[in-house]
Amino acid sequence: MSERLEDIAAAMVANGKGLLAADESSGTIKKRFDVIGVESTADSRRDYREMMFRASDAMTKYISGVILYDETIHQKAADGTPLVDIIKASGALPGIKVDAGAKPLAGFPGDTITEGLDGLRERLADYYKLGARFAKWRAVIDIDVAKGVPSATSIGSNAHALARYAALCQEAGIVPIVEPEVLMDGAHDIDTCYEISKATLTKLYTELYAARVVLEGTILKPNMVLAGKKSGKVSSPDEVAEKTIKLFRETVPAAIGGIAFLSGGQTDEQATANLNAINAIGPHPWKLTFSYGRALQAAPQKAWSGKPANVAAAQAAFAHRAHMNHLAALGQWQPTLEQAA
Ligand code: 13P
Repeated sequence: MSERLEDIAAAMVANGKGLLAADESSGTIKKRFDVIGVESTADSRRDYREMMFRASDAMTKYISGVILYDETIHQKAADGTPLVDIIKASGALPGIKVDAGAKPLAGFPGDTITEGLDGLRERLADYYKLGARFAKWRAVIDIDVAKGVPSATSIGSNAHALARYAALCQEAGIVPIVEPEVLMDGAHDIDTCYEISKATLTKLYTELYAARVVLEGTILKPNMVLAGKKSGKVSSPDEVAEKTIKLFRETVPAAIGGIAFLSGGQTDEQATANLNAINAIGPHPWKLTFSYGRALQAAPQKAWSGKPANVAAAQAAFAHRAHMNHLAALGQWQPTLEQAA
């Protein structure tokens, strides 16, 4: 396959395919395993991810790429095959999370800044050799309006870091996924999410331009525009679609390689229904697909529960969610397809 950045980016969002975000840090995957009663060890993490990557129905038809964590990109399957080779054999691209996490922003209580730029040039060169053709960096923007969160300083510092990361990725022949996640955890309404997301994306594209990042060789991984979880309101798919597309038309250049949403704590079916509603009101200037972690993995995790006897059922649960999100990426999903499963 072509090594040009714009071709890699186009492949990541092609034909109703989307990304599997399997890049949970060891701390996060432990939390997920605690829920299903599985001890988190290097082997159990390997067994779980091998189960997903060997789900050939899901991987070959619906998944364009997999975002890996540092441990996983170095791991081998139980039979000695590198996990990266299993992903490549399915036709999907291996990718890698390269940020070092969101840390408190000094002087701005409640805000965070994502770290990980030091030594990034060298790490990217190593990841390229291991097969990674795209990377991910997640900035985290929380909303607590009464406390002045987020500050303009937080939005600006995170956008600047994303731009420095993106430029280094492109230098290394790697497509950067730029992820400025406005969290849905707060008590805010949908219009507040829209306003904060607008400030965040406006700053992001100003910084990417200043850093001479080639937009065609980037993928945006945004949140949808939604009411916060603690508001007690669930925004309807029609409202989410209308406000999310309005936001993007105002802030996101048509030139970028594509858009792949995070799920961010939506239920599995909300994440699918909202993506579908967004695509159903197209055509749009960009491809809009999924890059889901929780909304693709919650069902297979539960079905697997750490037992080898459950591997086939877990792979079927993954294939179902991947199929539903594939249809949503094409604007062809229907709620009745969920009941038929
Ligand atoms: P969720 O879909 O669970 O939000 O995870 C996607 C992701 O990669 C967040 O960085």
